[in-house]
Amino acid sequence: MEKILVTGGCGFIGTNFIRLLLRERDYKVTNLDALTYAGNPENIRDMEGHPCYTFIKGRIEDHDLVSGLMEGVDAVVNFAAESHVDRSIKNAGPFINTNVLGTQVLLDCFRQAGCSGPFLHVSTDEVYGSLKMEEPPFREDNLLKPNSPYSASKASADLLCRAAWKTFGTPVVITRCSNNYGPYQFPEKLIPLMIINCVEGRRLPVYGNGMNVRDWIYVEDHCKGVLAAMEKGSPGSVYNLGGNCELANIEVVETILRLLGKPRELIEFVKDRPGHDRRYAMDTSRAERKLSWSPEIDFETGMERTVRWYLDHRQWWRRILSGQYRSYYREHYGRGL
Ligand code: NAD
Ligand code: TYD
Repeated sequence: MEKILVTGGCGFIGTNFIRLLLRERDYKVTNLDALTYAGNPENIRDMEGHPCYTFIKGRIEDHDLVSGLMEGVDAVVNFAAESHVDRSIKNAGPFINTNVLGTQVLLDCFRQAGCSGPFLHVSTDEVYGSLKMEEPPFREDNLLKPNSPYSASKASADLLCRAAWKTFGTPVVITRCSNNYGPYQFPEKLIPLMIINCVEGRRLPVYGNGMNVRDWIYVEDHCKGVLAAMEKGSPGSVYNLGGNCELANIEVVETILRLLGKPRELIEFVKDRPGHDRRYAMDTSRAERKLSWSPEIDFETGMERTVRWYLDHRQWWRRILSGQYRSYYREHYGRGL
């Protein structure tokens, strides 16, 4: 494996993944990214000029573009997606185009170009649906029972990957990971939104009663899991990745308040998200056994690093907030920032 096409490499996890690849391997990496509102070329601008890195602006649904880019490629790592549940509730269209149609175009072009593989598809724990508090964590053989347009579009992509493996023998490997946090996360997701609101002295909008549970993983641990699955994963297999760190949202918010020395009074309980999944939790024993992977960064260490990163990169998020994000926030929360 020498040449890798990474999609969505200007987003949160893709940026961290490409940085890891260029730091620890000598693959030639092409980054295909449409630069949507969530794709920020600034994230990875310092890599331009690196002899192993090329950036191409474009969409994964663009068959002609993608088929040209597949020439000479060995592996694909597909991060490109519309990724925010709340946006999918407002408008599912872009989720279907990118997450479903885009994945199929990548699979078709990969097969037509005769790439050796693997085709690593980055998926999410949300495809399994929601757990009750007393239920065991998700395993790879659980049924897919997605509840939001976002998770339904991701589950659809997983099934198209499965179909490519079964029908054509395309060497697909799927990773499903839990909630990531860390540097470069777009400030519409829980952790960066809460850090920034805290820093700016704004209210912290917690949905419902704040008791929904997520499993949290530091983004670098996720990237190492994707890399391990790309290099050691068995074609046709699914690997759960997670942080073994289940927390209620209110506990996450309280951690941020504590790290930033801010009062609990900033918390504002707001209207719940429709169809809000109660709990996600991952059984990661297959990845531990087969990929020799496990998460290394505990939540306290990861959160200290993350909070420090947002404090040290105020210009990065201020530029985002001053632009397109401001109108989205107003529309979503019914008030300005
Ligand atoms: P993100 O929204 O930060 O980044 C997505 C990137 O994809 C952006 O750079 C965007 O410009 C690009 N993109 C969007 N549509 C595109 C298109 N049609 N063609 C090309 N590029 C396009 O997302 P993220 O949080 O970095 O998530 C990356 C992947 O990981 C997604 O597939 C997501 O479903 C999955 N995932 C995310 C999490 C999480 O906690 N963030 C957890 C598990 C899995
Ligand atoms: P989010 O970061 O959107 O990730 P996901 O929905 O993919 O899990 O949300 C994480 C959790 O935080 C989820 O239970 C919804 C909740 N949440 C809030 O309570 N307030 C917010 O402003 C946001 C964005 C999320």
